[in-house]
Formats: sequence, C-alpha cells, structure tokens
Amino acid sequence: MDDPRIDALVAAARDVRRHAHAPYSSFAVGAAVLSGGRTFTGVNVEIGSFPLSVCAERNAVAAMVAAGERIIDAIAVVTAAPSPTPPCGPCRQVLWEFVPSGTVIAETDGGSRLLWAIEDLLPAPFELEAP
Ligand code: THU
Repeated sequence: MDDPRIDALVAAARDVRRHAHAPYSSFAVGAAVLSGGRTFTGVNVEIGSFPLSVCAERNAVAAMVAAGERIIDAIAVVTAAPSPTPPCGPCRQVLWEFVPSGTVIAETDGGSRLLWAIEDLLPAPFELEAP
C-alpha cells in the first residue's frame, strides 16, 4: 500500500468523522475501507439503549459488503484520542473476516499515525469453516 493511497484513505475517514452520531460518549470515530479500488466510509452510531450502538469500522464494512465487495485492502480510523486508536476487539474479528492480509491505519485528528497488519491485531481469530 503506497503512501498516497493511505493518505487518501485517512482523509476520507477524517472527513466522514464529522457525521458521527456520538451524543453519549462524545467520542466521534470515522472509518474508511479501501476495497476493489473504491472507498467506503462509516461512522459510529450511538443509541440510547447503549449495546445497540455500532462502531465506525463495522458500519464502513457493512457499506462495502452492500456494494458487493468482500476484500478489504486497508482500513483507516480517525479519532480525537491523544494517540491513534486501533479497532476494538469485536471490530478486529469483523475485519479479519474480510481482511486476509490487509493494513489497519489509525490516526488522530492531530495527524499522529500508526499502522498494523490485521494478523498482528488479531493473531488467533475465531474461524468458522463454511459447510
Ligand atoms: N468506537 C468505534 O467506533 N470504533 C472502535 O474501534 C472503538 C470505539 C466507538 C464506539 C462508541 O460509539 C465510542 O467509540 C466510544 O467507545
């Protein structure tokens, strides 16, 4: 993954973050998935019945799947945390389903960036063989 494509993906996550619906935590998250040369975005959507809330990463993945894509080349996540925040545990399992070997990028609104391979973030995934 070359730097210009990573920069563009992070910019998409940064841009969509303003649409996050986070009235309860005030922690707005923007995510952007690169798949099949296209970019799919998502934000966290919080619901007053808290467990119903959905992370930005999973909403971006849902948009990708609905568009007919299945392979994530990279995903970028932007937050306003003091340091870059990798996807939460459940989101790592969701990403792994579609990222056999892809890059996860996290950046702060201040521009501090970290990158991981998905297999480093989730070294022992649950895997269900299709019958
Ligand atoms: N959140 C995400 O959107 N992605 C993550 O990887 C971790 C957390 C959201 C969930 C909730 O709306 C808010 O951030 C605070 O946890």
